Amino acid sequence: MAAAVLRLLTCGSVDDGKSTLIGRLLHDTQLIMEDTLASLARDSRKHGTTGEDIDFALLLDGLEAEREQGITIDVAYRFFETPARKFIVADTPGHEHYTRNMATGASTADLAIVLVDARKGLLPQTRRHTRILALLGIRHVVLAVNKMDLVGHDEAAFRAIVADYRTMAEGLGFADITAIPMAARAGATVAARGADMPWYDGPTLLDHLETVEISADTAHLPARFPVQWVNRPDGDFRGFAGTLVSGRMAVGDPVVVARSGIASRIARIVTADADLAEARAGDAITLLLADEIDVSRGDLLAPPTDRPHVAQQFAANLLWLHGDEMIPGRPYHLRAGPFATTATVTLLKHRIDVTSGDPSPARTLAMNEIGLANIDTSAPLAFDAYGDNRQTGGFILVDRFTNQTVGAGMILHPLRRAANVHLQAMAVDQAQRSALKGHQPAVLWFTGLSGSGKSTIASALEARLATLGCHTYALDGDNVRHGLNRDLGFTDADRVENIRRIAEVARLMADAGLITTCSFISPFRAERQLARERVGADRFIEIFVDTPIDLCMARDPKGLYAKARAGEIRNFTGFDSPYEAPEAPDLVIAGGETSIDEAVERIIAALRERRILP
Ligand code: ADX
Repeated sequence: MAAAVLRLLTCGSVDDGKSTLIGRLLHDTQLIMEDTLASLARDSRKHGTTGEDIDFALLLDGLEAEREQGITIDVAYRFFETPARKFIVADTPGHEHYTRNMATGASTADLAIVLVDARKGLLPQTRRHTRILALLGIRHVVLAVNKMDLVGHDEAAFRAIVADYRTMAEGLGFADITAIPMAARAGATVAARGADMPWYDGPTLLDHLETVEISADTAHLPARFPVQWVNRPDGDFRGFAGTLVSGRMAVGDPVVVARSGIASRIARIVTADADLAEARAGDAITLLLADEIDVSRGDLLAPPTDRPHVAQQFAANLLWLHGDEMIPGRPYHLRAGPFATTATVTLLKHRIDVTSGDPSPARTLAMNEIGLANIDTSAPLAFDAYGDNRQTGGFILVDRFTNQTVGAGMILHPLRRAANVHLQAMAVDQAQRSALKGHQPAVLWFTGLSGSGKSTIASALEARLATLGCHTYALDGDNVRHGLNRDLGFTDADRVENIRRIAEVARLMADAGLITTCSFISPFRAERQLARERVGADRFIEIFVDTPIDLCMARDPKGLYAKARAGEIRNFTGFDSPYEAPEAPDLVIAGGETSIDEAVERIIAALRERRILP
């Protein structure tokens, strides 16, 4: 039997007749469930972003995170039904942000209708869309060869396009490709058969949509239950609420918490209506386990004999969704269902040309680009390969400051390279090193424009600390760029890598027990935050040397501003490269107004206040 709901996606360029086709389908079936509309209207007012209008996006449950963030993605969802089946159509507009919109629509779709104009045949866009569909795990494709009336309903023209398409789609892993000749404007072969193509004896589009078998895609999948929240109304009841995203779970079944490996058995399956003996994929349930074990939000419950991967490093296809390019080394929030952690792209192996499928070397991804990346997370993630299970193999990346979704990932496989690397305990620890020095370690992080006075203040401070008998070290932009970071320039990506490495070095310096000054423009909030986290907030002091750019330019100690003005240096901070001023620095030194001595004494006072100095 065909599954109750078919989620489909239409793609093709604007002129191929997409809206006409969807309009036709809706018109010819003309059945929208009134009560669904009513409840949707209520829901829309609660969560929606469309005011009083009905927000069809709410029909989709796969986009929870986007919905909570109210992200506007240009996808219209339409809902219709026939006696045989219900349908949700994602209609993605065929313009600039197409890839992103299409990815959003396709992430939950079962089937895609690829529209081609019979007069034009396959276009680069057809190839691009088809490749994206494959990447997003769509298994069923309808090749709708439209506007057959404009080629005289010619069978040979149709056959030629179908043959081209099959050759192109070979090896992309679709379960089936059904080609249908159409004249959507007149309605031919949409819901009814026209009289003009007697040579075509296949199904109409609607026949096919009503009967296409999609349950085989997911029926064999192992049970996966991501815990949305722990429900504990009183001491006796402790249930784990969520949606069974794949497979089945029955009372009595053994389960493990994927990340910890702790095992128990299902004692009850509770729903809003009544207890179930068995739950199936898509059911919203609360599980009660036989034992009191540690389970929290974001944990994944699975059968002990068929577990997901658990890893902190994995390879994934990454689709970039934001105007700011992807930056390797920058921490992002990662969300996979209810699970959340911090993640960085440690390596972009290559970018994928979406039209040809060919890889090419790249260091970053711009909006709508796709690449193969290695990802590293701060906490272990339980997952399946996206190709095996779309429910547990995908994730999104979210900017840590703006909370905007910046990327979507499809996991390929875990990386084993870290599996055999363990921390080695040393006989002397940080506390002992500090005790020998007579003070606590600290990282004094100076940030500000070039010429703001960071290095000058840091140098005077280090001299003063030396008179107090402190053990110190100074890390300085220009100096470090002559050695450790001599391979880096001044693109955003290079600056991020510069600071990431310095943050690691500063952490080692603090572990050694030293008071370390770090003088780097460090223009981005995200990496200063990363440095704070790597070093530890209690020993990290962010000092904003806030000198007006006019004064920095007047000082111009290295003549670089003059060069930037003359167009001889590119990506110069304050000119054509941004500086994100700290929002809550520990200290602000007003560059033009505070004397060096005054600045030094204020920092010494801060060190005493924090008991870093005795
Ligand atoms: S950061 O942005 O990556 O933190 P960093 O502090 O290491 O920069 O290096 C900045 C120093 O490099 C400046 O003080 C200046 O002397 C020099 N420099 C050379 N080119 C540039 C540039 N395009 N932008 C900023 N600084 C530059």
